[in-house]
Amino acid sequence: MVKTTVSIIKADLGSIVGHHRVHPKQMELAKQMMEQAKKSKMINSYHVTHVGDDLELIMSHNKGENNPEIHKLAWDVFTKVTNEVSKPLKLYAAGQDLLSDTFSGNVKGMGPGVAELEFEERKSDPIVIFMADKTEPGAWNMPLYKIFADPFNTAGLVIDPDLHSGFIFEVLDVMEGKTVRINTPEESYDLLALIGTTGRYVISKVYRKDGLPAAAASTSRLSLIAGRYVGKDDPVLIVRAQHGLPAVGEVLAPFAFPYLVAGWMRGSHYGPIMPVSVKDAVVSYFDGPPRVVALGFQVSNGELIGLSGSEPADLFADPAFDRARQLANEIAFYMRLHGEFMPARLGPEEMEYTTLPQVLEKLKEKWKKEK
Ligand code: F6R
Ligand code: MG
Ligand code: MG
Repeated sequence: MVKTTVSIIKADLGSIVGHHRVHPKQMELAKQMMEQAKKSKMINSYHVTHVGDDLELIMSHNKGENNPEIHKLAWDVFTKVTNEVSKPLKLYAAGQDLLSDTFSGNVKGMGPGVAELEFEERKSDPIVIFMADKTEPGAWNMPLYKIFADPFNTAGLVIDPDLHSGFIFEVLDVMEGKTVRINTPEESYDLLALIGTTGRYVISKVYRKDGLPAAAASTSRLSLIAGRYVGKDDPVLIVRAQHGLPAVGEVLAPFAFPYLVAGWMRGSHYGPIMPVSVKDAVVSYFDGPPRVVALGFQVSNGELIGLSGSEPADLFADPAFDRARQLANEIAFYMRLHGEFMPARLGPEEMEYTTLPQVLEKLKEKWKKEK
């Protein structure tokens, strides 16, 4: 059976009014290029959207994960949008996430974020795509744990025999570039011991115990690639749902709690993650607070099926998430009352990759030995 691949490849190519949001002309050009790729049968379907200042290309195709043609397509879209829209309009931080001039077969390690999942389509295959702005890949650790390993979130882990034996989590150590596979529920405490350290251990994939691919997340950390501060990674995540996997409602439930994530202003602060509709996927207050959007599709015969064509269901455009948004606003305000004091500001290891070391460098000469 031909397998289907869902790929999300995204980048910050510059934006309007600082880091507020993607410009409509950037989206327009990206859509034209995606339409071309669909006509030439390179991809089966696509949806172009944005979250804050990140341009998101969602595609379905039959070429598998890490396919050089698909990656080149995304890279070409990003360079053309940068050269033909971001630069002429002098959009802010034009081409920010394109950390290399030459494409070498895969966008991983070159700046853009990627999440890809290849799978055999079931009788019906609902998927939810999450996209965040002003945070890092470790931000998915808590919701992924809740969705696939926490029975207080996912009733199916207890009630549904198809979920009852649990899931396998693949965790990446972003510092060492190593992965480890951990089984839940048996090794849940080992998993938590790792993924609680969100800046270092990030969940990259989740499988059902029988090997069925259930989720894929982007894991790149821009600062580690560039060795300097280049904004946050603003990660993306694909989750399959229903019929032997967590239900869509169980997949969305963790976001009713606006938990704290690293990012926000200058990629240097903890802030609550606010679930929003695409219309509200912009950032303002202190360049935030961090946002997350959830788009729903059915995958059918290699295509992303939405409400009209591939226009998805905007799953957080729902009053059920009003409370989370309200709470996020209150937490954002509370965190900001701390100014530059920890824990509102990130710890020293994380601040290494910001502009703070340049400031500390200036004080170097002034230090005197304690008497
Ligand atoms: C966070 C982000 C922004 C900028 C901030 C300063 O990911 O992109 O918060 O860090 O607006 O930007 P510059 O230094 O370009 O003025
Ligand atoms: Mg930006
Ligand atoms: Mg961004």
